[in-house]
Amino acid sequence: MNNIGAGITIIGCGSAAPQNKLTNVHLSEIVETSDEWINSRTGMRTRHISNKTESLSQLAADAAQRAIADANLSPTDIDLIVLATSTPDDLFGSASKVQSLVGATRAVAFDLTAACSGFVFALITASQFIRTGVYQNVVVIGADILSRWVDWSDRTTCVLFGDGAGAIVCQASQNSDRLLAFEMHSDGSQNACLNLPYQSQSKSLVPGITTQYGTYKPVTMNGREVYRFAVAKVPEAIEKAMFRAGLVVEDIDWLLLHQANQRIMDAVAKRLKLPPEKILSNIAEHGNTSAASIPLALDAALKEGKVKAGDTIATAGFGAGLTWSAAIFQWG
Ligand code: ACO
Repeated sequence: MNNIGAGITIIGCGSAAPQNKLTNVHLSEIVETSDEWINSRTGMRTRHISNKTESLSQLAADAAQRAIADANLSPTDIDLIVLATSTPDDLFGSASKVQSLVGATRAVAFDLTAACSGFVFALITASQFIRTGVYQNVVVIGADILSRWVDWSDRTTCVLFGDGAGAIVCQASQNSDRLLAFEMHSDGSQNACLNLPYQSQSKSLVPGITTQYGTYKPVTMNGREVYRFAVAKVPEAIEKAMFRAGLVVEDIDWLLLHQANQRIMDAVAKRLKLPPEKILSNIAEHGNTSAASIPLALDAALKEGKVKAGDTIATAGFGAGLTWSAAIFQWG
């Protein structure tokens, strides 16, 4: 291929969410909590919850199809699909199923797991395939159904998460490069702050050889630690990315953070000296949808006419791992 060094344009966006909405009032019937507690601590009011027939693959495919249509492309134009998820329908991966549901018959597809950092990690991964000239049109999806993995009797976690999917289409360009800079980080020494761990039992196979079998325990989180980590690390990552892009804070039109907590978004904006009007947030409606939250919020902002062609967006994901990442890109 002779496309080496191609720039990246982001030319389409789409999203999908389950029909059912669970309100804070509903939650107060399930665990000891209140609308006042949840809203004042997180900014959340509702979240969408998948029913039995709504699979991760279908949600992701719906979002991808909408993004491809928004980009004025056909599914057969797509070369690569990167699906960021921690909650696949199948532990072997759901990306290939999504590829077939979308009808992207030429595309190769794979899953990427980085929890709430997954979408930004996937965007950066996709950009490498474009920059090296390997692929022209890439769909990046963030999708999660964490409602299937929380303990619905644990009020410290079950009130936070919702389900959904969002997708963008990235395209190689010889004329412009709209992914201006990025940062990626991991710190496994803090892994215990946020887990969805495998829990097993020993089973003896033959004398001297045992195997482990079991299933995954629900999400556990040290909320205060994750909060502290996010407020410290996310502004730092965005500042580094801005520096690499040769931008100052006044150049940023929108702050598009992983939608974990409105208070985190406000604190990060304050540290960056960005006015609150520049924060893109749909946390009141969707809660924390993990890898889906950034493209879901982007899609809503595009549909509301907030984000316009040429706008500069600072985005950042953060969460389990612990992982965190930032990217500065221009829409359209
Ligand atoms: N309703 C009522 N009370 C509650 C609830 C609830 N749903 N949950 C906890 N409480 C109580 C606690 O038991 C505690 O009571 P105590 O003081 O008697 O012990 C009190 O409220 C305060 O609890 P904190 O955990 O200190 O509450 P905090 O203000 O820190 O808010 C929250 C908790 C919202 C989870 C916050 O810490 C947070 O947003 N953390 C970051 C989470 C995050 O960013 N996750 C992102 C990654 S997700 C991923 O990667 C999959």
